[in-house]
Amino acid sequence: MAVGPALDIGFPYQLRLVTEAAARACYDWIGRGDKIEADRAAVHAMRETLNRLPFRGIVVIGEGEKDEAPELYKGELLGAQSGDPAFDIAVDPLEGTSYLAKGLTNAMAAIALAPRGAMLDPGPCFYMEKFAAPPAARGEIEPDWPVARKLQRLAEVLDKPVSDLTVYVLEKPRHERLVREIHAAGARVALYPAGDVAGAIMAALPDSGIDALMGTGGTPEGILAACAIRALGGTFFGRMDPQLAGEKKRVREAGIDTTRWYTLEELVTSSEVVFCATGITTGLLFDGVACTDSHYRTQTLIVSGLTGERQLLTTWLPRSARRES
Ligand code: FBP
Repeated sequence: MAVGPALDIGFPYQLRLVTEAAARACYDWIGRGDKIEADRAAVHAMRETLNRLPFRGIVVIGEGEKDEAPELYKGELLGAQSGDPAFDIAVDPLEGTSYLAKGLTNAMAAIALAPRGAMLDPGPCFYMEKFAAPPAARGEIEPDWPVARKLQRLAEVLDKPVSDLTVYVLEKPRHERLVREIHAAGARVALYPAGDVAGAIMAALPDSGIDALMGTGGTPEGILAACAIRALGGTFFGRMDPQLAGEKKRVREAGIDTTRWYTLEELVTSSEVVFCATGITTGLLFDGVACTDSHYRTQTLIVSGLTGERQLLTTWLPRSARRES
């Protein structure tokens, strides 16, 4: 199996240290109404831990441009090795800031690594329309079909009636029509106020209770989800869908085609992708951080495109060993 200079098949097990550290760093901020400080803690812990790992990578999907994000900014070089970066890095140290600040379920820390140049750089586009579904839908559904036709074909390949399908959609005013169309087609809608990385991963996992993800969310979250699904197997398409006035202007000026759907293989051109996500608050995919007098307990989803393995790992770390604070 071809692997990069540092990304051997044991690397995913080391990468989980990064999201575990970010999740533990957020623990003290759960339910305290301060998403800025929570995010700062997660970003710092993630960066410190990444800089101890034996690799060299560059942030492609990060916390913004250098002048607005002091850590994990786009273009930052990370890792304990020197030289040219061999890997692209996508980070979301705190996915679900509002969930965390309100003490609600479903906040997590996530990261993906792929060989250098494999991740699509979305430029100035913050929002992306996404479609995710299980592996059985690969090659069976065109992303620009009407909603009812997509659901009809999905039901056929999953061998169940449309009425048994559940579609994960972010609860946003921009999705009112989409939700009406899914209901009119006869399927169920699971409406969540935030968190479409988890929604996309659930959609790609057969028998998760979610059969598809539809609608528009963050572009960085879209690339991260695409990395996870590239490693897991599954169906994913993305289309740049700017929502904000300034963003629309910058996307137009950059000449980005907002009618074009990107395939999974265009969003992440290599299958040698590694994805890790650790629960901060208990959610759909895993438990959140628990803290006793002696230990932190975390749960991490590790997905390796190097081996095709998916693992759910529970880690007990003595509190005295916590290094990131
Ligand atoms: P947080 O900002 O609370 O971390 O929310 C993350 C998220 O819900 C993503 O999962 C999603 O892709 C994006 O925000 C949607 O953005 P918006 O809330 O601006 O529509």
